[in-house]
Amino acid sequence: MATAPELLKSPPPASIRPMCGGDVAEVFAIERAAYTFPWTAGIFRDCLRVGYVCRVLMLDERVAGYGVMSLGAGEMHVLNLCIAEEHRGRGYGRRMLEHLLAHGAAAGMLDAFLEVRPSNCAALALYHSLGFQQIGMRRGYYQAVNGREDACVLKLTLRADRADHT
Ligand SMILES: CC(C)(COP(=O)(O)OP(=O)(O)OC[C@H]1O[C@@H](n2cnc3c(N)ncnc32)[C@H](O)[C@@H]1OP(=O)(O)O)[C@@H](O)C(=O)NCCC(=O)NCCS
Repeated sequence: MATAPELLKSPPPASIRPMCGGDVAEVFAIERAAYTFPWTAGIFRDCLRVGYVCRVLMLDERVAGYGVMSLGAGEMHVLNLCIAEEHRGRGYGRRMLEHLLAHGAAAGMLDAFLEVRPSNCAALALYHSLGFQQIGMRRGYYQAVNGREDACVLKLTLRADRADHT
């Protein structure tokens, strides 16, 4: 049983559910505040329309973060992961990513991939802590204030028995 100081430290309870069209305005507000080059609201709607796995993290009936990924050919690609700035550093980003990884593994995916800016230390630390390893670099992949920025390509093996499935 948690002691009183532990209860004070623990983050408010959050839940994760599928994103729906009615969430896009809140999602987009978080996205716009988080990134210099944000996705548009239309990109989120397209992700829902094509059936990507889109999830929101709910806190007090408000969207506090989200994750988007595609599944196919045995691979899951994490396309977006974001927690509203005021809720960062409380384990929610890790929780959302673990949720996506568990979903991908349950759907039979063998590997998880994602791209991240080399300058994004918080995201890199999260990904490495979950076992992602860099497998390459995409030159000039991202828009940046002064031109373009490279992307680190990270991979996590979800199923080590891939030889049985290829
Ligand atoms: C990356 C992001 C999703 C992390 O979410 P979060 O809820 O703050 O992260 P968590 O509290 O779950 O922390 C998980 C791990 O991330 C790392 N981390 C989080 N914040 C960090 C920081 N400021 N500096 C260094 N590492 C950090 C740590 O490894 C941490 O594990 P620990 O708590 O055991 O040390 C969040 O910073 C975010 O939304 N950033 C803006 C959008 C973005 O850059 N998304 C990733 C695009 S590739």
